[in-house]
Amino acid sequence: MTAICFDHVSKWYPRYQSLSYGIKSSLLHLSETFRSLKRERVRVLEDVSFRIEKGETVGLIGPNGAGKSTSLALMAGVVEAETGKVVVAGRVSPLLELGAGFHFDLTGAENIVLHGVLLGLTRREVSSKMKAIIDFSELEACIHQPLRTYSSGMIARLGFAIASHLDPEILLIDEILSVGDLAFQLKCNAKIDEFKRQQVTMVLVSHAMDHVQRLCDRVIWLEKGRIVGEGAPSMIVAEYEKSAQLRHVESRPSAA
Ligand SMILES: Nc1ncnc2c1ncn2[C@@H]1O[C@H](COP(=O)(O)OP(=O)(O)O)[C@@H](O)[C@H]1O
Ligand SMILES: [Mg+2]
Repeated sequence: MTAICFDHVSKWYPRYQSLSYGIKSSLLHLSETFRSLKRERVRVLEDVSFRIEKGETVGLIGPNGAGKSTSLALMAGVVEAETGKVVVAGRVSPLLELGAGFHFDLTGAENIVLHGVLLGLTRREVSSKMKAIIDFSELEACIHQPLRTYSSGMIARLGFAIASHLDPEILLIDEILSVGDLAFQLKCNAKIDEFKRQQVTMVLVSHAMDHVQRLCDRVIWLEKGRIVGEGAPSMIVAEYEKSAQLRHVESRPSAA
């Protein structure tokens, strides 16, 4: 059964570059600035098609700006595709990028409730899961402090703890596993293994190729909004690493 299907998906975002002409001149010609902001769009996904089957763990890899987070946002229904079709069958976890969907003036505990309620759980259902989430996150000492006092590692812990305890059918994980400390990474890996056994569908965005190789059944490689490779993790990761190495060599100033 297919859990996620992208059918010729393209996605544009407005380009916020006009201010590079100079803040002052942009402010002096505000209407012109707004008009050009409206007009200019940049394509971040171009004719992307793939299928992810129920129970599969698929890695999304590629350089910064390739469109990985945008693909997850489309899967989560946070943004819509301009052309093509995205079909998702199953309850999607709220976990996107680090801190996305969090409210930084609310406490950790309040954020847990907020996520649960947004996902359609009743307050009672959330309360019944509260202890397990806090225990998993190991943040009991500061769970009643506002989120703005948390480190990025702590936010990653809370994010993974919430997303993994709200009975997701589809779990989206965006560059979050490498932020926590080693002990927490091991705990997340164990949880992911458990989800695999339970046939939870997972899409994992990561720059940690060892994670990708260990956890994923299949890898999709994006470059500039297009799929350039897809297949067995060992093969695609090797090709990706070769291309990154090549780019690194090409970008080095040549020895004169
Ligand atoms: N909300 C947005 N508005 C405008 N441009 C965006 C937005 N989100 C992402 N982009 C642009 O889309 C491109 C792809 O971004 P993203 O999907 O975040 O890439 P990745 O996660 O692979 O690093 C980037 O060039 C980024 O600047
Ligand atoms: Mg990203």
